[in-house]
Amino acid sequence: MADRPSRHTVIVGGTKGLGLDIAKACVARGDRVTVAGRDAEVAEREATAMGELAVSGICDLTDWDSLQRFFDSVEPIDHLILAALDRDQNDIADFRPDDAAKTSLMKNVGYAASVHYALKKLSPEGSVVMFSGLSMWRPMPGSTTISMANAGVVGLANSLALQIAPVRVNVITPGVVVGTQAVDHADPVRAETYERLRQRTPGKRLPHTDDIVNGVFALLDNPGINATNLVVDGGMHLV
Ligand SMILES: NC(=O)c1ccc[n+]([C@@H]2O[C@H](COP(=O)([O-])OP(=O)(O)OC[C@H]3O[C@@H](n4cnc5c(N)ncnc54)[C@H](OP(=O)(O)O)[C@@H]3O)[C@@H](O)[C@H]2O)c1
Repeated sequence: MADRPSRHTVIVGGTKGLGLDIAKACVARGDRVTVAGRDAEVAEREATAMGELAVSGICDLTDWDSLQRFFDSVEPIDHLILAALDRDQNDIADFRPDDAAKTSLMKNVGYAASVHYALKKLSPEGSVVMFSGLSMWRPMPGSTTISMANAGVVGLANSLALQIAPVRVNVITPGVVVGTQAVDHADPVRAETYERLRQRTPGKRLPHTDDIVNGVFALLDNPGINATNLVVDGGMHLV
């Protein structure tokens, strides 16, 4: 990779889980990263652990002033990755609208607002990658809010791909990902569901975090990929 120029990737939701795995992989290939979340201490700790190519930032996807401050403070951006999620377990029978509104706000309006505030810093050769999730097509118990928020991400990406061209805009839709907190520490009922899904997946293999990282790299690096929703689920959407 010696002749590959170093890029700057900003990852909102880059302080934990898949966002953090992507940040580490970016640094490993010589790219600079800014990782952001709501918790300053965690963000700072993770950035420091990644070394001099990483810095931390603070923003809350439900607080527009914090988003503006964050994007005003970052270096010019090659790639913006929106990976954040504030989970909400909600079923329609005992629906809690306030909890649903918070998650919908952060994952839909918050993602859109991030792109708005990032626009002046985004390279025309760069891209935006936003995280959706298979629950938009394959709901699970309690996924009411996240199913609708994930579908909203795809609609947002379609709209942005036309509005902010030539910046490319893509979505990644992971299935149930092995190696993440959400899956590895699931309660017994969910763990059983995940195992059933693994058994039904064509290759009897759920995607691993590395598969998601490699999927994101394809979206970042390939200038021919635009306005795409890359599904990385081991084929689970078929079964
Ligand atoms: N894990 C899976 O199996 C799976 C499956 C399908 C789709 N996905 C998608 O993949 C993405 C990453 O999932 P994950 O499981 O890796 O997530 P995670 O481990 O829960 O990490 C979520 C990240 O988002 C940040 N965050 C949460 N609320 C925020 C807010 N209001 N403003 C700014 N940052 C916020 C968190 O930091 P703070 O708490 O410090 O703010 C953290 O860095 C999500 O978009 C999810 O929908 C994951």
